[in-house]
Amino acid sequence: MKLFTVLSSLALLATTYAFPSIDGSVAIIKSDAVQGFVWFTSVKKCGSSGSSVRYAFHVPATANQTEYTYHIHEFPVGENNNCTATGGHYDPLKVNVQKDTYKCDPAQPTTTCEVGDLSGKHGKLVPKSDKPIAAGEYTDADVHLTGDNSIAGRSVVVHNAAGDRIGCGNIVQVTPQNLGELKL
Ligand SMILES: *[C@@H]1O[C@H](CO)[C@@H](O)[C@H](O)[C@H]1NC(C)=O
Ligand SMILES: *[C@@H]1O[C@H](CO)[C@@H](O)[C@H](O)[C@H]1NC(C)=O
Repeated sequence: MKLFTVLSSLALLATTYAFPSIDGSVAIIKSDAVQGFVWFTSVKKCGSSGSSVRYAFHVPATANQTEYTYHIHEFPVGENNNCTATGGHYDPLKVNVQKDTYKCDPAQPTTTCEVGDLSGKHGKLVPKSDKPIAAGEYTDADVHLTGDNSIAGRSVVVHNAAGDRIGCGNIVQVTPQNLGELKL
């Protein structure tokens, strides 16, 4: 499989997750504290919309955090991998109007969760202690790759338990041309 080859430098992560096709967009996160990706593919079945989301993250065995959150942020990553430049969580439906009372209920994601609050809706990243990888997949009806409220050109940010931004990466549409550059 082509993509599998492309991400072969990601050996550990790639064996955890096989990609179905090159269709979609990916955010690749590379920092000392965390390495991984979030892969978005539009759901095109009739009667449903949104994206299928696959992710895998690796943290060093020496990391002393047990869980991490991750979100789609409003803006792309700044120069020199500046995660602060990504702004806040992507919230096009303006669900989070009062920061101190915001509470994402995964049972009612569209009305209570920021579109970008992926860990709020689908669970935090909890690396396994014997193998410091967190991986999984889910469908999110409110994440769109095109049209109004598109996540194109935005970014994904990983936070530690203290809320520090420990890694970030731009959401890039995958094409046959850039396939070779998408590596960890
Ligand atoms: C471990 O956690 C402490 C307290 O949060 C932090 O100061 C320290 O940098 C962490 N060490 C590593 C290796 O992440
Ligand atoms: C990172 O981006 C923020 C927000 O745009 C900016 O205020 C800050 O100066 C930048 N930091 C560096 C080191 O460039």
